[in-house]
Amino acid sequence: MAISRRQLLLSSVAVTAVGALTACSDERSTGTPAATGDDADSMASAPAASDVLIGIAMPTKSLERWNRDGAHLESLLKEKGYQTSLQYADNKQDQQNNQVQNMINDGAMAVVIASIDGTALGPVLEQAKSRDVKVIAYDRLINGSENVDYYATFDNFKVGALQGQFILDNKDEYKSEDGTINFEPFAGSPDDNNAKFFFAGAWEKVSPLVESGEFVVPSGKAPASEDQWTTIGIPAWKSDTAQSEMENRLNSFYGGGKKVNIVLSPNDSLALGIVQALDGSGYAPGDGWPLVTGQDADLANVKNMLADKQAMTVWKDTRKLGDQVAVMIEQVVNGEDVEVNDTESYDNGVKVVPTYLLEPEVVTKDTVQEKLVDSGFYTAADLGL
Ligand code: BGC
Repeated sequence: MAISRRQLLLSSVAVTAVGALTACSDERSTGTPAATGDDADSMASAPAASDVLIGIAMPTKSLERWNRDGAHLESLLKEKGYQTSLQYADNKQDQQNNQVQNMINDGAMAVVIASIDGTALGPVLEQAKSRDVKVIAYDRLINGSENVDYYATFDNFKVGALQGQFILDNKDEYKSEDGTINFEPFAGSPDDNNAKFFFAGAWEKVSPLVESGEFVVPSGKAPASEDQWTTIGIPAWKSDTAQSEMENRLNSFYGGGKKVNIVLSPNDSLALGIVQALDGSGYAPGDGWPLVTGQDADLANVKNMLADKQAMTVWKDTRKLGDQVAVMIEQVVNGEDVEVNDTESYDNGVKVVPTYLLEPEVVTKDTVQEKLVDSGFYTAADLGL
């Protein structure tokens, strides 16, 4: 059987992450017990919740999802009676390292880190280890360090695969009049470990069509191979940069009435910029507006979906991620085994980090009400419904 790119990428032996979810969902894996090992003893020695400080390090306030993630996790931990220190780092890893350092100095028992550059936390994690502070990588894996205890995330490869599959399922509706399909791919921030997974998941689906010529890439910005994805990466996931990149492509390669039909955008912040570029270039919804993908179900993007400017988003119900991480923290504090459901997929170059994986899902205009409003993620009023 051919080895899929996913298997290569994840250095997974035989079980895919989805398989692992099914296989292990009822198991308590052998996480590292924080205290003496025997549950009864460790419960007895668990500190009073009010004496426990938990650090939460989020990458930036500039993107909607991290504000939501931080606030939700903080409130769950407070409900459990813990003290919290929630910090945002303006997308600068040095700043985040200082923040985590301060959390450790202040006596944090565990730190939850959504990193910026997951390869650049080394010394601060050694500090954490030396003080027996547990480190939970949140959403983004921390690479190249022994001192990452757990990882909680959505299945990042699947996020890209859902975008790619959506493109395959809907491509025929978006053909140009002469039958060609003009396709423009984008990728996420080169320093974010997740971005390569998103790209790999999408590229596994879409690249055969680029190779066969069914998809034409007028800008030429299709990476020669999957591992060249950083050549089309948008640093820091900036909407503005995605907008000017899309404007450049439209201005330089789409003269003479040629239209772009499909844009692979790995997330909603890039999709916002891409949509602005399309707006500015005279595209109109319902009249040759291209299929644009996304991820996160950010408010502005859901509104764009309702206005037929973005075809889909991959929704990661970040409340579930926070819920799971709060459970993990409680287990760490109480010296219990920490629940994970994947012990094979996320190799950070030094170790396979025990992971709790959650499932992302597609939302389209037709399912906004059912998925996002009925579940309470947004109110109807938020969306102008
Ligand atoms: C997250 C995405 C987010 C992106 C930009 C990624 O690591 O998984 O949900 O859109 O960062 O913040």
